[in-house]
Parts: sequence; structure tokens; C-alpha cells
Amino acid sequence: MSDYPIERIRSDFPALQQRVGEHPLTYLDNAATSLKPRSVIDSVRHHYEEDSANIHRGVHTLSERATREFESVRDRMQAFIHAAHREEIIFTSGTTAGINLVANAYADRHLSEGDEIIISHMEHHSNIVPWQMLRDGKGCVLKVVPITDEGELDMDAYADMLGPRTKLVSMVHVSNSLGTVNPISQIIEMAHAHGAHVLVDAAQAVPFTSVDVQALNCDFLVCSGHKLFGPTGVGVLYGKRDLLEDMPPFLGGGDMILSVTFEKTTYNRLPHKFEAGTPHIAGVIGLGPAIDYVTQLGLDKIEAYEDELLEYANAVLSDIPGVRQFGTSAKKAPILSFLIDDIHPHDIGSVLDTYGIAIRAGHHCTQPVMQRFGIPATARASFSIYNTREDADRLGAAIREVKALLS
Ligand code: ALA
Repeated sequence: MSDYPIERIRSDFPALQQRVGEHPLTYLDNAATSLKPRSVIDSVRHHYEEDSANIHRGVHTLSERATREFESVRDRMQAFIHAAHREEIIFTSGTTAGINLVANAYADRHLSEGDEIIISHMEHHSNIVPWQMLRDGKGCVLKVVPITDEGELDMDAYADMLGPRTKLVSMVHVSNSLGTVNPISQIIEMAHAHGAHVLVDAAQAVPFTSVDVQALNCDFLVCSGHKLFGPTGVGVLYGKRDLLEDMPPFLGGGDMILSVTFEKTTYNRLPHKFEAGTPHIAGVIGLGPAIDYVTQLGLDKIEAYEDELLEYANAVLSDIPGVRQFGTSAKKAPILSFLIDDIHPHDIGSVLDTYGIAIRAGHHCTQPVMQRFGIPATARASFSIYNTREDADRLGAAIREVKALLS
């Protein structure tokens, strides 16, 4: 893509300037976490150097500055995912926390014994375990939409599962281990037609594709800052305002109250009702420039660039005998899960590391996906905005070395 400013982007990420051993870093572990641009690092440092204060409760200058910066990120996130109201943006510690909040404050109240929750076979553990905990506590039914050999959702099976007892559908937008981009609009529409609410796990989606919660009409959406070039330990829960208004708080403590006596506590308004305790202030503040970075680059441009990169990387891997890919759906994020002959993925990862190539090896917190394909683990190379065709070539060359060494 000739108008994609790859050189400038690469120079914005300090981590990319290093060597690992005698090789330049080839960072292909973006589905686990992304690298951070200088603007994010600078804003976190600036907060601690100049504005290190607690928020919402101080009357001094530092606290006011920190509060202003923190709350401005709520506005930027609202614009980023196109939420109708700023108070629909709840800061959490990450995607996992967001799902657990919905399970405890929404589903625990609204679902009864025999009510059904639908998830899919490609969910991250964080979108499985909270629902199992709810099921075991309340006697709900957890239904799992199967996936095809290509790693796509079986939409006919999903249609068959929806029924009068379906109360909640909780589905991943982009699979972290297979790269599959699910038809999330259709999934939401079908659930709504049965009166069910929908939670979207958008952790892998937001750095890759434009997400518009109003156009999607999802009821809840969760994502993490650290996969979006922001700090770790911070994330967002979006919820429709009327649903959030109706939900009790999940955590009790400071900042989520208007008044407390031993007899009675009155809860704070949205969004503070769900933000008990001192939040990860520097993390939220660091998320601001991350959102700005992606917005300025443009998600349409990012998606087009990463589509091309995926096609190229696919061709590189397909050319190597003995490489088997898992997750070959028609619409994919640039995430390649693979095995080489019968070499253990951890050995693949270790050898690639000696060439300065960072990938992830394991089950990627999706053990049911591994069970579906009858394998214990995969090696996973995941590309992002700063990766290049040269990175894919280096990966290909190193895989050939792995084969020569270990096959
Ligand atoms: N969920 C993250 C991954 O896919 C950690 O690696």
C-alpha cells in the first residue's frame, strides 16, 4: 500500500528499534499484546512526573489536571466506538473484568434457572469461565455454537440454538487464536430477534477494524487497552445506558457512592457507579494517545494494510511443506496459528526467538479451540500496524531453519 506511512509508524515505536541478540526485533505477538508508541509512553510518564494525583476528589491543581485528562479519555473512547453517551463508557482493568462485571451485575440479576446463554467454541477462556460460574450458581444453560474446519462459526447451528429461553449471547468479534472475523452484526440481529441481549468481546477487533456500537446495536462491548497500543491493566466496558442504569454495582467502595451511612448507601451516577476505588489513572491517561494514534492513522487504512499483510504472510507459510494452519476463514485478522510437522510449538517459539522473532506458543487461552482441532497447542504469529512483508519473510526463513533443525 503506497500511501501507508510504514517508516514513520515504525519510528514511533521505541521497542522496534532494538535488537534481540544479533537480530533486529521482529515482533509478531500482537494478539497477546501490542507495542506502545512514544506518545503513550510519554503521556504515562508525564502523568507520574507532573500530575501524579488522585482523581475526582482533589481540590488541588494536580488532581484537577489528572481528572481532566482521565475524563477526556472517556470522551475519546466514546468517539472511538461511537457510543451515544459518555457515561456508557466504564473503565475496567481489561476485557476479563468487563465480562465478569456483566456476568455479575447484569446476568446474575436477569437470568433464572433454565435460561440460556449462548457462546461459541472459539471463545477466550474469559468469555467461557464467567458464564460457567453463573450457570453453576443459578442453574442456567450454557450453549456453545460449533465451529467449522476453517474456524468459522456454524451460523445454522447458531440459528437453531436461539429460542425463547435465550437471554444472552456473548460472542467474540475477532478470534485471538484463529483470527476469524465473525459476522457480528448478523449475530446481534439474530439474537435481538429472539429478545436476547448481546455482549461483544472486541479485544482483538478494536486494533484491527472500526467498531461502531450504535450501528452494531450491541448491548455490551468489552475491550482492553493493551491490545490497542495502550497500557496494560486498563480496559473498557460499553453498555447501553438504560441497561447500565438498571444494573446494581459490582464492586462497592470509594467513588461509586453519593452518600454512605451505616443504614444506607446511595450509589453514584453512571459511569462512576461501576468504577469503585482508585482506578488505573495513568493507564487510562495512556489509553488516550493510543486511541488518537489509531484514529489518526485511520482504521480503514489499517484494515486494508493488514489484509494485504495477511495475504502475503499466508503465501509465505503456504510455500513451506509441513506447515499446517488453523483458522482459514474467508474473513480474517492477521493472526496465523500453525504447526510445523510434529514439532512442539514451544520449540518453534524458542528457535524463532534466537532469530529475534517473537511469537506466542500455547493454547492462547482457548483450550476448547485446541480440543476442536485435536491438538495441544499452536505457534501463533500475529501481525499489526508496524509489521512488514520483510517480517513475514523473516518468519518464513526462520521456519525453514526450525524444520531443518527439528523435523
Ligand atoms: N488473550 C491474549 C492472547 O491471545 C493474551 O495471547
